Amino acid sequence: MSFDHVTLTVADRIATLTVNRPDKLNALNDATIAELDRAIDEVRLRGDIGGVIVTGAMRAFVAGADIGELSRQSPMDARERAAYGQRVFDKYEACPKPVIAAVNGFALGGGCELAMACHIRIASEAARFGQPEVKLGISPGYGGTQRLPRLIGRGRALQLLLTGEMIDAAEAYRVGLVNSVVAPADLLPSAEAMMRQILANAPLALALVIDAVNRGVDRPQADGLHLEANVFGLLAGTRDMSEGMDAFLNKRRPQFQGR
Ligand code: COA
Repeated sequence: MSFDHVTLTVADRIATLTVNRPDKLNALNDATIAELDRAIDEVRLRGDIGGVIVTGAMRAFVAGADIGELSRQSPMDARERAAYGQRVFDKYEACPKPVIAAVNGFALGGGCELAMACHIRIASEAARFGQPEVKLGISPGYGGTQRLPRLIGRGRALQLLLTGEMIDAAEAYRVGLVNSVVAPADLLPSAEAMMRQILANAPLALALVIDAVNRGVDRPQADGLHLEANVFGLLAGTRDMSEGMDAFLNKRRPQFQGR
């Protein structure tokens, strides 16, 4: 499948999806959002991909939605644009394969929202985060008002959302927006190392753990625990459970097959 504004490469079961409009700091115009939609479908469907690292070309991760396009939108256009972008980012969050954001530079507005839709965020020391929409007279539209408070708490989220201020990677780590911060040169190697660690585990277990966390997190704990017990039961029927336990008991490395 070919793309104009993103690149998708695969090596050793790890896909790297790079937003690639560097002259606009990888701002998400509608065409790029549509390609992010197709790209995550491809990641989900391709058997040779175990997980995906999402990053940006050159000095930005993604500097937001494309302000040129936003400047011309009617209220109905804007609502449609937000609803579609939300559906696309929901697909990243719901992807049954691990999705790691490797945040290399500016992650503003839609860029911060894309990173938050990924399962895990690793930031370069050069990364900058923010939700500056209010400076433009708009609100976040791709999940920022919902995912940010869930990730870092309501008070800290409202501070970022209302001031529109940019924070550096160290502050993003301090408030829990990112999982770790590494030197720029170590960003992709760190993301790949974490992905390899994850992909050594049983694929169906990974998929169902992601699903249990996503579905449970906004529900009462008792409902989440019920879901968890069902997931635990489902996995007991897989060959990979037998393989994982047999490998442990026989002191060998497991060979998981996703069945
Ligand atoms: N939409 C469209 N174009 C964008 C953009 C966006 N969100 N962010 C950056 N660009 C473009 C700039 O217009 C500029 O294009 P030009 O060279 O054709 O004029 C190019 O990317 C480089 O950006 P520039 O502003 O010159 O770089 P900088 O290093 O001085 O500043 C930022 C970097 C990220 C601080 C600044 O670009 C910025 O504030 N961008 C907007 C961030 C934002 O509000 N995002 C939320 C949108 S809802």
